[in-house]
Amino acid sequence: MNRIRKAVFPVAGLGTRFLPATKAQPKEMLPVVDKPLIQYAVEEAVAAGITELVFVTGRNKRAIEDHFDAAQELEDELEAAGKTKLLEALQNTVPPNVHCIYIRQPAPLGLGHAVLCARPVIGREPFAVLLADDLMDVDAGQKPVLAQMVDAYHREGASLLAVQDVPREETRQYGIVSTTPYKAGLEQVQGIVEKPAPEAAPSTLGVVGRYVLGNRIFGCLEGVGKGAGGEIQLTDGIAELMKHEQVLALRYAGRRFDCGSKLGYLQATVEMGLKHPDMGAAFARYLEQRK
Ligand code: UTP
Repeated sequence: MNRIRKAVFPVAGLGTRFLPATKAQPKEMLPVVDKPLIQYAVEEAVAAGITELVFVTGRNKRAIEDHFDAAQELEDELEAAGKTKLLEALQNTVPPNVHCIYIRQPAPLGLGHAVLCARPVIGREPFAVLLADDLMDVDAGQKPVLAQMVDAYHREGASLLAVQDVPREETRQYGIVSTTPYKAGLEQVQGIVEKPAPEAAPSTLGVVGRYVLGNRIFGCLEGVGKGAGGEIQLTDGIAELMKHEQVLALRYAGRRFDCGSKLGYLQATVEMGLKHPDMGAAFARYLEQRK
């Protein structure tokens, strides 16, 4: 079975829910405390053994490319000032053995289309997809969510979706799966539908922004037309994939923050702020005082 070496980061969405903050930069560059969302997702991928990072970018691609590139002038300044900790943070946005590849999505035709754009660099391998606006947090000592998925892929050899229970009134925000029990933590996906109305949703098990997909998904996406919201949906590609092979759902251990929404973004900022090694304690005191 192929090892998962490559991850796709679709970052070409319009991010309309965050305008005007996303007018000149992708929403994946919004910072939570001191790192952009995309950096959290890249660190999660690297911790899962990914060495090829494939960014599918849109009209505001420069900010992402610049973030993962060397910044010589800035590095020289920090070195001269003896600010070694900051210098390390700057130099470690990607480890030396990890490569960044950029592909352009010519127009924001949907997440399924963005994933299809990555086909030429994925080749024949299975791969991961990470939506950086879903920030996944785990407790100390717990494996990051993508590593949990890659482990399960290596055990089962099947495509995997990360899922969580969602409130029924929110099914319109998710791809919703119907499943049957499989093994501990894993379920077999029997059906998947994008953004169903609460009364039409087959369950309340929602797909979140982490996937491990077999290569056959590309052929499936090619045949998919416009779906929910007039976009080419990854969900519809997965529904097609299920006709050919088993797809599993993993109830991951951890907590997801929907940073594509303002409320989720603020919650992530509070939780990651409280966890921050330098200012977590001071922030906790501040929150306590203002109650
Ligand atoms: P969203 O559904 O959150 O859409 O995309 P969006 O356009 O980014 O944000 P809103 O709803 O207008 O505020 C889910 C993920 O798919 C990527 C986005 O960048 C995000 O990571 N995406 C979406 C693309 O890369 N291309 C697309 O055409 C659509």
